[in-house]
Amino acid sequence: MIVCRTIQELKSALGERASDGKSLGFVPTMGYLHEGHASLLRKAREENDVAALSIFVNPLQFGPKEDLDRYPRDEERDLAIAAECGVDVVFLPTVQEMYPGRPLTKVIVDEVTDRMCGASRPGHFDGVGTVVSKLFHLLKPSRAYFGMKDAQQVAVIEQMVHDLNFDIEIVRCETVREPDGLALSSRNVYLSAEHRSQAVRLSQALNLAKEWLEEPGMTASGLKQRVESHIREADQAIIDYVELLAYPELSLIDEEARLSSYNGTVILALAVKFGTTRLIDNRLFETS
Ligand code: PAJ
Repeated sequence: MIVCRTIQELKSALGERASDGKSLGFVPTMGYLHEGHASLLRKAREENDVAALSIFVNPLQFGPKEDLDRYPRDEERDLAIAAECGVDVVFLPTVQEMYPGRPLTKVIVDEVTDRMCGASRPGHFDGVGTVVSKLFHLLKPSRAYFGMKDAQQVAVIEQMVHDLNFDIEIVRCETVREPDGLALSSRNVYLSAEHRSQAVRLSQALNLAKEWLEEPGMTASGLKQRVESHIREADQAIIDYVELLAYPELSLIDEEARLSSYNGTVILALAVKFGTTRLIDNRLFETS
């Protein structure tokens, strides 16, 4: 496994591959790797000749009051996990290497960023779009792997790849969960024991929603109310949003129409705070 800290090192590590026409599977991350990231790495390993990982806590996607400074980091452990997953190349740049000056160019994806985390975290997806397009240019992957835990991020990246003609296949990967259903996240380490036990309500609500959705006459607003009241039974939970939208467009669906009359894929997406820790989760449903 080659660890590259500069763009120059990365270019020479990847140079050979280009001339051989080998496929490259790429997993961009912010590190503090867990089994969710590892599942993406294993898939990239299986489906490509070369597997690459980037670890970069991207300041551009954090708001001024967010957790950039305390974002968890453990480079040694991350490299051990990467090696175990069969990664060939790790790109671990500094902020200075990625942004030697304040970037004046941003990649902004409209509409799919209007709601959910796009609304709660202004500018977040501009930072994601900008860094991911830089990484795509630097690594030139054949395939890039993204977790559906961040379903809005997947929608944004798919739209960006389409609009800007990146010749890259975006591979959607399933959310990996704890045995009780909590979606794995680098931020779960912030949860107190009490918050951790209450956090299970997010995935529970998504599972219950599958049954509620099948009730005759169920509407989007009815479903969201049920989900909200299930989560509120956790007395420490502060709901940021509960949304039911068309996926991947992330457009509104008629709140009062019967869901059974809607034909297509919808996403039920949640963001909930426990103390200062904000958790997200979602589930896709096919309605018809
Ligand atoms: P990060 O939060 O480190 O996540 C890296 C990748 O791992 C993302 O595609 C994310 O969806 C996926 N992932 C996280 N938790 C997962 C889980 N429980 N199951 C499956 N996949 C999971 O997302 C980012 O970093 C950044 O925004 C990035 C794309 C790297 C741009 O900076």
